[in-house]
Amino acid sequence: MLDVIKPATPIAPSLDEKALARALSGRHFIGGRFVAPLSGGTFAVVNPATGIEVGHAADGDAADVDVAVLDAARAQKEWAKMPARKRGALVAKCAAVIREHVEELARLIALETGKALRTESRVEANTVADVLEFFGGLGSELKGESVPFAPGVLSVTVREPLGVVGAIIPWNVPLLLMSLKIAPALVAGNTIVVKSAEEAPLTVLRICELMARVLPAGCFNMLSGFGPECGGPLVAHPLVRKVTFTGSVEVGRIIARAAAEKLIPTTLELGGKSPMLVFADCDFEKTVTGAVTSMRFTRQGQSCTAASRIYVERAIFDRFVAAVGDRVDAMVMGDPLDEKTDIGTMISAEQFGKVRGFIEEGQATQGATGRACSRLPDDPALSKGLFIQPYIFTGLPDDSRLVRQEIFGPVTCVFPFDDVEAVLAEANDSEYGLAASVWTNNLKVGLDLAHRLEAGLVQINQNLVVQANLSYGGVKSSGLGKEASLESMLEHFMHKKTIMVNYS
Ligand code: NAI
Ligand code: MG
Repeated sequence: MLDVIKPATPIAPSLDEKALARALSGRHFIGGRFVAPLSGGTFAVVNPATGIEVGHAADGDAADVDVAVLDAARAQKEWAKMPARKRGALVAKCAAVIREHVEELARLIALETGKALRTESRVEANTVADVLEFFGGLGSELKGESVPFAPGVLSVTVREPLGVVGAIIPWNVPLLLMSLKIAPALVAGNTIVVKSAEEAPLTVLRICELMARVLPAGCFNMLSGFGPECGGPLVAHPLVRKVTFTGSVEVGRIIARAAAEKLIPTTLELGGKSPMLVFADCDFEKTVTGAVTSMRFTRQGQSCTAASRIYVERAIFDRFVAAVGDRVDAMVMGDPLDEKTDIGTMISAEQFGKVRGFIEEGQATQGATGRACSRLPDDPALSKGLFIQPYIFTGLPDDSRLVRQEIFGPVTCVFPFDDVEAVLAEANDSEYGLAASVWTNNLKVGLDLAHRLEAGLVQINQNLVVQANLSYGGVKSSGLGKEASLESMLEHFMHKKTIMVNYS
């Protein structure tokens, strides 16, 4: 039997993120309630800015997965009977509850992920409400078609939900990525079991509890735990009829193989090595700003769409590299919860070590130069914090690991170019194909490149990334299928049934 824990979380918004982290500790969220893991095991949640433990998370395994999936399967029968427009209205109502709690969610994300409150965490918390609002309005859009067949035969397609959706999310933007999975899944009439990331299990639990104030119990469930022990059984569970995943290419492949065994659909949002092509005729200042924001230095570069390869036309190369460096240099690194802070920390000691390894390799590469920007904080309370100075590398050879692999840290590589065809070939010479951008005032060049760049998303003279109504997802090793948008909800969270009536 599950040990049901009475909610210790406050009804009103709480701006005491540490108290909230403690209150959310050691639980899954199943069937609309907080429950302890069946094994009783937990693991530590550490504030990456201080190294101090702020809470602990339930260590979920196959037994917890089974309880959650069975509960979700029971709830799905009723949920799917509800008129779609009403399901949407309830999801939109969740957005309103979340809006009232944006500030506390933002503080909690900053605490557990080290992402700066002003530049990252608050933005993420607001976007979650936007996503739920958008999908909440789409309940009436789950339409099928009528198909010409023969005289005396009416042939139509209707869309039906898939059943229980399993979602596995990462730590870099946990709330936003969760919302992009749960909102379309729910509006489409599915129920969902989410497996949170080991490094960021608490804020997503809080959002479950907020949503449960509006939605029927069991519609969505949240488990924490490790990948193979908790994520693996979720993908393999016979009642899970679709898996949606965001994370590494390596794990994406594991999930695709497991889903193939069951012959269920998957959506995979994986890594990137997104190129940015800068032409000499660009709007210089706007493009410098674009490079800094595209590279997501405010998030320590922990973004799948980070502009980690920047190609600049030779005439402005030196000036551009210097201007980007100066801009990043002026950014303030420090306590993620401080409003003055632009850049917070890396997520974990593991990612910190991995990124430091790339930087050291770049520094040791003959002919390469790495400019370290901004300054490490000098506050003794942050001395154990996982802060890394952003690096801008020039002079790296094409075959450098820094140029080929996803670093997922504040490191970008800049190269000069002379020829459009050559730079296009270089930009496309990557196993990844998530996003790309072109910066030029010559729209003929920009549009031609936009059509020929191998990426799921190409932007000209801007770097806005995810918005709920835009399809988002990569080609090549960057993923399979699209997230966000009406069409991704229809294609990836529903199936089409054909119904034929012979009235002749
Ligand atoms: P990961 O892919 O190992 O973890 C992502 C999620 O998958 C987590 O919830 C994890 O518990 C789960 N998972 C891990 N192994 C699993 C398995 N065998 N079965 C089911 N679920 C499993 O990513 P990680 O270790 O956090 O980061 C490694 C690298 O992945 C990063 O350096 C970055 O390059 C990339 N990454 C990309 C992201 C993106 O937005 N596309 C997000 C996070 C990481
Ligand atoms: Mg991993």
